[in-house]
Amino acid sequence: MASIREEVKKHYGGIAAKVSKESKSCCCGSDGCCGDIGSDSPLYSPEYLAGLPDEAIKASLGCANPIALANLQRGETVLDLGSGGGIDVLISSRFVGETGKVYGLDMTDEMLALAEKNKKKHEAKNVEFIKGYIEDIPLGNESVDVVTSNCVINLTENKETALREAYRVLKKGGRLAIADIVELKAIPDEIRKSVGMWVGCISGALAVQEYERILKKVGFTGIEITPVNIYTKEIIKGFAEDKNLGYIYAQLDENLLDGTFAGAHVKAYR
Ligand SMILES: C[S@@+](CC[C@H](N)C(=O)[O-])C[C@H]1O[C@@H](n2cnc3c(N)ncnc32)[C@H](O)[C@@H]1O
Repeated sequence: MASIREEVKKHYGGIAAKVSKESKSCCCGSDGCCGDIGSDSPLYSPEYLAGLPDEAIKASLGCANPIALANLQRGETVLDLGSGGGIDVLISSRFVGETGKVYGLDMTDEMLALAEKNKKKHEAKNVEFIKGYIEDIPLGNESVDVVTSNCVINLTENKETALREAYRVLKKGGRLAIADIVELKAIPDEIRKSVGMWVGCISGALAVQEYERILKKVGFTGIEITPVNIYTKEIIKGFAEDKNLGYIYAQLDENLLDGTFAGAHVKAYR
């Protein structure tokens, strides 16, 4: 476990440093899967991005918009798992207002530093970034109204532990609003074995039925998983080429990969 986690940390630490320098990023940690993100984004409609610093938008590494699912209300407490550069935390902070609170949890120092910079630029007073693991959330039982996350659950080997932790910190009646990569068809083992692809959000993706099974097992109800951004073979090829893994891609049957993965909305209730 440590080795995958360390790989992920190193990978996102590197991206955070790069984003800080170049002000450029995209979803899933690849260097181009969503194309360049300027002050607009392929994942968020303009009303979500209104008022955000460009640096926060450019640091977006998600795979859909979890806030669109969350139905946030003023005064609520939100926890974002794997908050990265903080885009979803800052968007949520506006919805919950001064009487609400938004925590961003991340394990990578460089990402936390980037998020703190973006928080300062946004002058967000109701935001707190904390260091820790989504598999061991440093918050009390039943302490938040909403748990959000964007393209992070796929990166952990301990998905059940992470989702159980999300359930633990949610108040009764609280909701989970996640964007994540899901697998829509079975994939070849070679892909699963590739740590490089794993870090890029693909190989750790859960099948929709498996996601549902784990969510139910840890106690969630009202589960809805909806694919929103389907990854075509061209997009998958882009991931591989961006990471210099084109040679791995070339060995695979690309038709097997076509439409196999999607960025999805995952909603559930405690
Ligand atoms: C793909 S990025 C997404 C960042 C952010 N959610 C966004 O949409 O821009 C994944 C983030 O999750 C963090 N992360 C990955 N695994 C984690 C874990 N087990 N515990 C805490 N943070 C984790 C990484 O450090 C990285 O910042």
